[in-house]
Amino acid sequence: MSPAPEPSGTADWYRHFGTIDAPGNSACYAEWSLGIADDPELIRRIDGWPHTKRQPLLMLAAARFLGARISPYPEFRRFLDSRWDDVSRIVLSRSTQTNETGRCAALLPSLARIAAAERRPLALIEVGASAGLALFPDRYGYEFDGGAGAVTRLAPAASPPGSYPVLRCATTGPVPLPAALPAVVWRAGIDLNPLDIRNPDDVAWLEALIWPEQDFRRERLCQAIAVARADPPLLVAGDLNERLVSLAAQAPPDAALVVFHSAVMAYLDAAGRERFRDTIALLAAGRGCHWISNEGHTVILQQDGSSVVPEMDDSRLRGRFLLLEDGLPVAIAGPHGQSLEWIEAAST
Ligand SMILES: C[S@@+](CC[C@H](N)C(=O)[O-])C[C@H]1O[C@@H](n2cnc3c(N)ncnc32)[C@H](O)[C@@H]1O
Repeated sequence: MSPAPEPSGTADWYRHFGTIDAPGNSACYAEWSLGIADDPELIRRIDGWPHTKRQPLLMLAAARFLGARISPYPEFRRFLDSRWDDVSRIVLSRSTQTNETGRCAALLPSLARIAAAERRPLALIEVGASAGLALFPDRYGYEFDGGAGAVTRLAPAASPPGSYPVLRCATTGPVPLPAALPAVVWRAGIDLNPLDIRNPDDVAWLEALIWPEQDFRRERLCQAIAVARADPPLLVAGDLNERLVSLAAQAPPDAALVVFHSAVMAYLDAAGRERFRDTIALLAAGRGCHWISNEGHTVILQQDGSSVVPEMDDSRLRGRFLLLEDGLPVAIAGPHGQSLEWIEAAST
């Protein structure tokens, strides 16, 4: 999700998206957003939606869902004119629920380290799970590239190559890469609106949420969906703060429980985030659980509201996620798991 930028107004939001968020990811979305920002009639129509529905990625994904092709802005504008009622319907009924399997590469070293320290298999709960594709870190392949030819490859032993996505991640620093994938004996997720990988409309929506030019991510999504379809995860509908404790009670007691989340906390207000932190503390003290957080550094704060990385220059973290294990920063991750810079030694 791209949060509203500081300058107010819908045109500014689209201009910010077109100049800051989209370039480097999608030339097409950059052009379309800037076209919309300079198009008062479209801005007027978009302003007819509730504020949270005006965000550029949601509107552009709705158009893609309906078949908008990569094209110059004037062609896209004609498409919007011809399908505006449908665009409105999709925007009002859907939300940005990008499910990025690549983030498993950022989570994997921490998951493996927890399993090794606990000397038992893992039970996973992802809060804000979307379709639950990050619940299969043990069923994907990985290529961690430390540069200068130092590549660590990991693969699920029981699956033939080609039957799972291979997640590529550039590493920096002493990333604690495991020798093998951790064992996962139970997996479940919570989402306000779980997407169903067996429902073609939900799958089409997941595809539409990927930037138009990023075919490799669509291919990865497709492979991850095939993995998940073979053993669909338990997904519970509801607010993460309402459902976490009862779901955790269903995890096998002899497994090490890990609660994790990526790109979710920005959707909660400050009170919701604090309540979540309290719930995690309660679970850790009671049943026992580990907590992995993979979020923008401005949404995850200390209990007292201060930054978890006070010494770190903001420019180093901008556009990337901070990875925390049990509340302590261990790494800076690319937002789609494409990179992992281990900072633990420097921060402890
Ligand atoms: C950007 S998606 C990220 C999905 C997934 N974590 C990933 O990394 O691929 C954020 C998800 O969080 C969910 N979400 C937002 N607020 C929530 C809440 N209070 N309780 C449960 N889920 C929530 C949204 O519905 C959405 O599916």
